[in-house]
Amino acid sequence: MPVGGSDPFVERVREASDIVAVVGEYVALRKAGARLAGLCPFHREKTASFYVNPSMQAFHCFGCGAGGDVFTFLMQHEKMTFPEAVRHLATRAGVPLPDKRGQGSDSLERIRETLRMARAWFRSQIEGPEGVEARTYLDARGILPATREAYGLGFVPESWDGLLRHARAVASERALIEAGLAVESESGRIYDRFRHRVMIPIETAGASPLGFGGRALGDTEPKYLNSPETPVYHKGAVLYGTGPAREGTRSEGRVVVVEGYFDVIGLAQGGIPGVVGTCGTALTPEQAMQLKRLSDRVVLVFDGDEAGLRAALRALPVLVGPVSDVRVLLPPPGKDPDLWVREDGADAVRAALDRARSPLAFLEDLVTARVLSRREAAGRAADLAALIADPISRDLWVQEAAGRYGVSADAFTQAVRGRLARLPSAAAAPDVIGSGPSSRSRGEPAGRVVDPGGTGADGMGPRGSSRGTDAAVFTDALERECLRTALARPEWASTLATAVGEAGVFASRLGTLLGWIAEAAAESGGRTPGTVLACTIQAHPGATGLTAFGMEIGGDPEEPDALLPRIQLRGLRRRMEELNALIRRSEEDGNRESLDRFLRERQALAAERARLDGLASGRAPAPEDPRKNP
Ligand code: UTP
Ligand code: MN
Repeated sequence: MPVGGSDPFVERVREASDIVAVVGEYVALRKAGARLAGLCPFHREKTASFYVNPSMQAFHCFGCGAGGDVFTFLMQHEKMTFPEAVRHLATRAGVPLPDKRGQGSDSLERIRETLRMARAWFRSQIEGPEGVEARTYLDARGILPATREAYGLGFVPESWDGLLRHARAVASERALIEAGLAVESESGRIYDRFRHRVMIPIETAGASPLGFGGRALGDTEPKYLNSPETPVYHKGAVLYGTGPAREGTRSEGRVVVVEGYFDVIGLAQGGIPGVVGTCGTALTPEQAMQLKRLSDRVVLVFDGDEAGLRAALRALPVLVGPVSDVRVLLPPPGKDPDLWVREDGADAVRAALDRARSPLAFLEDLVTARVLSRREAAGRAADLAALIADPISRDLWVQEAAGRYGVSADAFTQAVRGRLARLPSAAAAPDVIGSGPSSRSRGEPAGRVVDPGGTGADGMGPRGSSRGTDAAVFTDALERECLRTALARPEWASTLATAVGEAGVFASRLGTLLGWIAEAAAESGGRTPGTVLACTIQAHPGATGLTAFGMEIGGDPEEPDALLPRIQLRGLRRRMEELNALIRRSEEDGNRESLDRFLRERQALAAERARLDGLASGRAPAPEDPRKNP
């Protein structure tokens, strides 16, 4: 089986699985800060040194050095092969197994290539003479040309075979059908699926096309025509706009979920970052896992009508559980998010987002609005409470709900118990969190990351040698920070690897590990930090010890801006030391010419050092005074 990053099915299963729930079936885990801890199942121990980090979807034992992702865990614990672990988790998460036919990586690559070709052609059509109609349509909807480009919007003219004709030289009809772009009629005639529509590419976070949504220009039915399920497009597994939204979900500390394509586009253009779309499907558990990875705070902003309200009610049981902070916000009656931001402006929407309702408050609002009876709302609140794994959070919820609905906490608890008993065992398993045998000790992983008794393995050993304690050999704070940052922000790994190499003063295995992370980041197409970590150790068993750093990474990684100057500074200081020695020697030798040269270099380096010092400490570089250096 290929490296995880290149197999979309493996990635889909990984993203649909929650390592906490899987490990929780074998190990009693308790909360330890943002992580969970328990007794290591891979070696005998009395105090917990085994950690699971939900935000990285990785585990690591600081006692024996075992570490990995959800697949590795099953491979090591259940002695499964990699394909067995993938199949097991696919079944568990309800991800359909791919049918044998047409799933080879050649065929997947051909489909992606065909989709890329079509995306480019749709783009060329919207900008060309035939596209005037679509451009006018988008103008009328207030979509600016820059936004049109940012979201790769295209156009397919009115014709039965526009794309087919264009594609003739580069793609077979078969490939177009497989990619969901052409349809074969009963009589065997082949024609374009999408005709006379604005084409909205649906892409991975790394902008690789998966399928399209096609918006009719007028009142044609259906209003939207979407790609069918194909080997690369699974409606319930994608969220629209994750790529453009990612940065915003970080900066805002939340992800906003809307229903429509144009809600995503409209909010983004209107100045609300971090928005993704369900594209009209009922929210699925797979989408919930993706949302959780984007942010621990999910705000649902569905249409301000009965349908939007019902959709929000349906989405709550999917989100409460996996996501710790779920909020609901309905636009003013009759508006969808796109219209709302256009009419009322970003400030109004932003203020409302900050006041979005908790599920319990939302349910109470519905009682006030006479949409639900008090009894119905309390029943739904109990349903949701049963989905919360952490007993403490669940208890807090129960107390609050009892207060809101005027039910005794006892009665409410009983209602929740009854529901818990009816849940399938997998969902009830996280109940062990907090009640594990090790709940006495209270160790935080941060203090344990440096393994002083490390085996001294060099970390490059072959598979099966030391169990990955290699990461422990990085005792230098800056080197550790490089690894942590590369894992938390994989898009920076390659820059860091280059900077470390150029500085020339760091352990060579640091450069190697950074290079591996950069490679995995490139191959996994801009996916989550957890996926990049998993792909790195899958490709390089010698990198397993990186899971130790994976335990330190939380929801909100710092900007690595200050890190680069710190790396450069260290290289520069080394050169300064060399220069000082060279200067002394030149003075002793009375060599004026080399002395001058070295002094000049030192002066230049001193200026550079001052600049880097400023950057490293986060201060803006002092503006140059133009009069000083004429
Ligand atoms: P809406 O009808 O709210 O779409 O459906 P919208 O985005 O506000 O549409 P505009 O603003 O009139 O263009 C929400 C989403 O449901 C899916 C689409 O993903 C749409 O964005 N949908 C809707 C379909 O797939 N097919 C349809 O016929 C209608
Ligand atoms: Mn709408």
